Amino acid sequence: MAVTLMKLPYAYDALEPFIDEETMKFHHDKHHQTYVNNLNKLVEGTELEGKSAEEILTDLSAVPEKIRQGVINQGGGVYNHDLFWTEMAPEGSTSISEGVKKALSGNFGSLEDFKKKFSASAAGLFGSGWTWLVWDGHKLSIENTQNQDSPVSEGKKAILGLDVWEHAYYLKYQNRRADYIDAWWNVVNWDEVAERLGK
Ligand SMILES: [Fe+2]
Repeated sequence: MAVTLMKLPYAYDALEPFIDEETMKFHHDKHHQTYVNNLNKLVEGTELEGKSAEEILTDLSAVPEKIRQGVINQGGGVYNHDLFWTEMAPEGSTSISEGVKKALSGNFGSLEDFKKKFSASAAGLFGSGWTWLVWDGHKLSIENTQNQDSPVSEGKKAILGLDVWEHAYYLKYQNRRADYIDAWWNVVNWDEVAERLGK
């Protein structure tokens, strides 16, 4: 079966006023849909057809070289956005557990320090890409990736991801990426973070 566009787990306006409805509609229905369509076109007729974006990205060496960069871009666009929608929730609908607080404090000093470091990393990313909290099997760290490159291709597990492509914020925040990042913290799905950390 072809890769399909994930359904949003909430309404388009559920993340207002932090992430606006119009941005969500363009971002999910147009940008994400395009990644899905392009990935399907790329893998059609190859042995990758029928695999999920995550399965494909986890083993890039199995991707024929002539479509590999395309698959990294389009497959990353599918997988990263699936994660992004899941990692957000309406304001106040989730809370930070003691376990999450402890894990983040242990690695970054405090929850506030973690947020500061993550935000600074996202604000400092040049061009288009993502900021991640990842687990490499030994420790948690904050890292940026360019374009749609995904931590899963480096054998890392994404715990939290923030889309800092302009399409994620330009309609509402224009050039004010830092304001978008500050607002995004209000809609982080901490239950999902706990779930991913726990696994
Ligand atoms: Fe995006």
